[in-house]
Amino acid sequence: MWRLSSVAVLCIAWAAAGCESETAEAGSDETAVIALLGLPDGIPPPAIPPENPLTAEKIELGRRLFYDPRLSANQTQSCASCHDQARAFADGERTPTGSTGTVLVRNSMGLANVGWFSTLTWASDGLLTLEQQIQVPLRSDNPVELGITDGVRDEVIARFEADPTYARLFADAFPESGSGVTINKIVFALASFCRSLVSVDAPYDRYLAGDQTALTQQQRRGLALFNGERFECFHCHGGVFFTTAYRDARTPEGSVRYPFFNNGLYNVDGEGGYPPHDQGLFELTSDPDDRGLFRPPSLRNVALTAPYMHDGSIATLREVVEHYAAGGRVIEDGPFAGDGRLSPLRSGLVRAFPAEPDEIDALVAFLESLTDDRFVTEPAHSDPFAMDRD
Ligand code: HEC
Ligand code: HEC
Repeated sequence: MWRLSSVAVLCIAWAAAGCESETAEAGSDETAVIALLGLPDGIPPPAIPPENPLTAEKIELGRRLFYDPRLSANQTQSCASCHDQARAFADGERTPTGSTGTVLVRNSMGLANVGWFSTLTWASDGLLTLEQQIQVPLRSDNPVELGITDGVRDEVIARFEADPTYARLFADAFPESGSGVTINKIVFALASFCRSLVSVDAPYDRYLAGDQTALTQQQRRGLALFNGERFECFHCHGGVFFTTAYRDARTPEGSVRYPFFNNGLYNVDGEGGYPPHDQGLFELTSDPDDRGLFRPPSLRNVALTAPYMHDGSIATLREVVEHYAAGGRVIEDGPFAGDGRLSPLRSGLVRAFPAEPDEIDALVAFLESLTDDRFVTEPAHSDPFAMDRD
């Protein structure tokens, strides 16, 4: 694992995340978490709920559960069906299909560094921990993902209790509570595995650490454009994980900014409306001003996570950058026709700017430098059943 060469370099990279956290005392638990996750100097540990301390045993159990189709009611799907390591844990689909055939309305998210996001999913102000979020794919009945509704819960638990490998893994992961399997333990283990999905070894990181050759000249130009006031990207995708929705173990409670923005993708009614099946944060708050508000996704490994946006409606990175340069999206015809550039709800930071084709190339090349080859091949994140099948 690489090491950052100095705090000064890091402070440039951290703009939005705040450098003051550098000075905070690391407690002994933090030291253990840093070692367990192999975090390089200067990356503070993620916030972890005190009731679910991170351990190697829980991560290992969570990894097995993540890849196990027995975790869906009808045994056809696992978390990995929609979160594929080779794609930085996104799935390449516009929107995925759940275990009973329901097509979901939102694009599967990559999971790199998911332990550091202050809110989870594309647009929720209520899912603040992985322990809360993971209940959704496990238990939701609308739409069904894995479909562990109350009626089948005991049956699913019995599958794991009958398996001697799991009996051992659950006992190791939760030594204080006997060997029984519960949904709560499953959730805690999955959350621990998700927290272990750390991606900080891209060419961009090596460049920050002092290796000038890690980025091409074109990528360095793209980096400057990304952080410049003409392209504006860094305002919403700032900080070490390229999203304002950032939080770590040292972030003071309540200090996280409200990380939701309207990107001008739709304007179906001339008043900034989004397609009725998904209007972003509005779905939860019913506040008309929240229509079209989504969380800025992290851009790490973004070259692997196409298609883009909450509904997978943009196919390539080049088209994403062209969308921003136009200051919103124009949809000529069909049910969602409208001019996103004229949306009254569009964020003021998404506004048209002049961009030469070679500048767009440079920005795309920079985004490609955020791909961490080691992360997508790391054996500790991979399918533990693959060896049995070979
Ligand atoms: C049917 C496909 C599907 C399955 C199965 C699935 N997910 Fe997801 N996952 C998604 C989608 C789609 C989203 C975005 C949801 C939204 O915004 O409402 C998501 C979001 C997430 C997030 C939030 C990421 C972020 O950046 O906020 C986490 C964490 C996650 N999934 C973990 C899991 C785990 C763990 C499992 C297994 C228990 C799982 N998922 C099963 C499709 C799936
Ligand atoms: C006003 C805040 C804001 C600014 C400025 C901004 N973004 Fe975004 N970005 C977002 C939000 C919010 C989303 C998700 C929108 C959605 O899905 O509806 C997003 C999505 C993306 C995605 C899709 C990622 C994925 O996983 O699907 C990429 C790539 C991206 N932005 C790159 C950029 C670049 C490059 C710039 C600068 C040209 C930029 N953004 C400027 C807020 C912003």
